[in-house]
Amino acid sequence: MRTLIIIRPYAVIRGLVGEIISRFERHGIRIAGIKVLRLSKVLAEKLYREHEGKNYYDSLIENMTSKPSVFAVLDIDVLDDAHATSLVRKIIGDTDPALADMGTIRGDFGLRIDQNIIHASDSPDAAQKEIPLFFDEKEIVEY
Ligand code: CMP
Repeated sequence: MRTLIIIRPYAVIRGLVGEIISRFERHGIRIAGIKVLRLSKVLAEKLYREHEGKNYYDSLIENMTSKPSVFAVLDIDVLDDAHATSLVRKIIGDTDPALADMGTIRGDFGLRIDQNIIHASDSPDAAQKEIPLFFDEKEIVEY
């Protein structure tokens, strides 16, 4: 199964990209596509449509568009899609860094929920919608 991760600006400017990518690689998860880009407002609003109206929405869009993020398509070769999603959730940890277990990406490096350092599609459906926002099929490599 493929999923999308976004290593958000807070992690990019702190130089945590390699550390974060290696945590997925150590599980045998393959990087099928990767790029650095500063998100446009239009794309940020599409990505976070579900959060529109929340009190943190405007600052979320501002944060995501002010500096670059690293976008990666991960190829997770496990027996079923539900296992892939729950493995990624376990590697990343709870949305709130204060609740995330130590040993997870957010638990080890996160500080504030409104400045999360990584985003991941939260279901196979979400991944199918989010990946095409940032990648053409020809930019994703099977190996
Ligand atoms: P992310 O996983 O990228 O997806 C949505 C983002 O909204 C999330 O990371 C947080 O940065 C932000 N977010 C979610 N809930 C809250 C909250 N209660 N307060 C502030 N920011 C939030």
